Amino acid sequence: MIAYLKREFGDIDINYTGVDVSEKLLDEAKNRLPDIEFIRGDIIDGISIKESDIVLFFGVISFFDNVETVFENLFRLSSRNGGVYVFAPFNKYGYKVKYEYTHINEGERITDIEYTHSISEISDWLDKKGVEYFWHKFDISIDIAKSESSYPIRVWTEKMYNGERIQRDMIDRIEEQYLLEILM
Ligand SMILES: C[S@@+](CC[C@H](N)C(=O)[O-])C[C@H]1O[C@@H](n2cnc3c(N)ncnc32)[C@H](O)[C@@H]1O
Repeated sequence: MIAYLKREFGDIDINYTGVDVSEKLLDEAKNRLPDIEFIRGDIIDGISIKESDIVLFFGVISFFDNVETVFENLFRLSSRNGGVYVFAPFNKYGYKVKYEYTHINEGERITDIEYTHSISEISDWLDKKGVEYFWHKFDISIDIAKSESSYPIRVWTEKMYNGERIQRDMIDRIEEQYLLEILM
């Protein structure tokens, strides 16, 4: 993500800090972007870094059941008048859906649990917090080919008759992604 932002906004003076819970992924990120500060942190425990004007939380919220703790800790990372941006699949019909994926990989049974959180449930909670927020539906504009060889099978796109694309996950489930913009 930071590599992409640096490429797109390289001429703007921005200080980036990358945070992840996984040492392995942090090491990979440090190798790729040696000039950027990367630190280990768990969003459930709370992360101690300087407040930022823009907090990006992309592709992570689906791992958590209790998103209120996650949001509270994201808000603590944001400066006053800053913005918190959460990108993930969300459910527009008011359902919070729990997925349990179990399969065998190289003889080992692996179980992953993910949630697609309800837009209305999160909106009700944000209303109680008194913050201003906007849901932006994300329509993907590029083709991503299906690759059976990757593990786990990454998402891919299918073009529909009207030219729009849908995004499918590893079990063919259609994912509707949103950017939730929260103004602090
Ligand atoms: C799908 S990746 C998204 C990576 C990155 N946000 C990006 O857009 O390039 C999900 C990441 O969430 C991290 N993660 C999972 N649980 C976490 C937690 N409790 N606190 C912080 N990061 C976590 C994983 O280690 C993984 O790197």
